[in-house]
Amino acid sequence: MTHTADDSLLSYSRFLPDEAATLRLGAEIAATLSSGTIIYLHGNLGAGKTTLSRGILRGLGHTGKVKSPTYTLVEVYAVFKIHLYHFDLYRFNHALEWEESGFDEYCNGDSICLIEWPEKAAGVLPAADLQLHLTPDNEGRIALVEALSARGNSCLKRINEYS
Ligand SMILES: Nc1ncnc2c1ncn2[C@@H]1O[C@H](COP(=O)(O)OP(=O)(O)OP(=O)(O)O)[C@@H](O)[C@H]1O
Ligand SMILES: [Mg+2]
Repeated sequence: MTHTADDSLLSYSRFLPDEAATLRLGAEIAATLSSGTIIYLHGNLGAGKTTLSRGILRGLGHTGKVKSPTYTLVEVYAVFKIHLYHFDLYRFNHALEWEESGFDEYCNGDSICLIEWPEKAAGVLPAADLQLHLTPDNEGRIALVEALSARGNSCLKRINEYS
């Protein structure tokens, strides 16, 4: 784990050799989440964002399917009486679609939000607590997890305790 320039927000990176490792990181992140947490998931097509979301959902106890929201834009899950919204904004043509779709009301402090392709709604999304970057590396992926708030920092400290 490393400290960023202002020495307050943390970041952490890990090599994920296979899909199982991505699911495991998701489960570790799940154990640190609380209502109101917002996570941006960055990475190119096929980088593993939905796989990581699946790991988070499994970690939260969801046993059903976790479909990619590529066509539906958002899938909603009920976990521990909390709503978890899993977004995929890839098909947005314009950032304004975020508000037009009413999605801003979903990230209301009571829910957990996972947002794939957040760059498609840059400037209008609520601020994230955690930001993940997934990058292909040989057969696996490199995951970089960055805290963007005090809440994100405490998630990251706890993720680090598990590894
Ligand atoms: N650490 C890993 N190493 C190798 N393959 C992985 C790893 N993590 C996930 N994968 C594989 O990558 C493929 C694509 O994953 P996924 O659908 O999660 O990508 P995505 O980032 O959500 O893509 P999109 O932007 O199209 O939604 C899947 O076949 C998955 O099994
Ligand atoms: Mg996806």
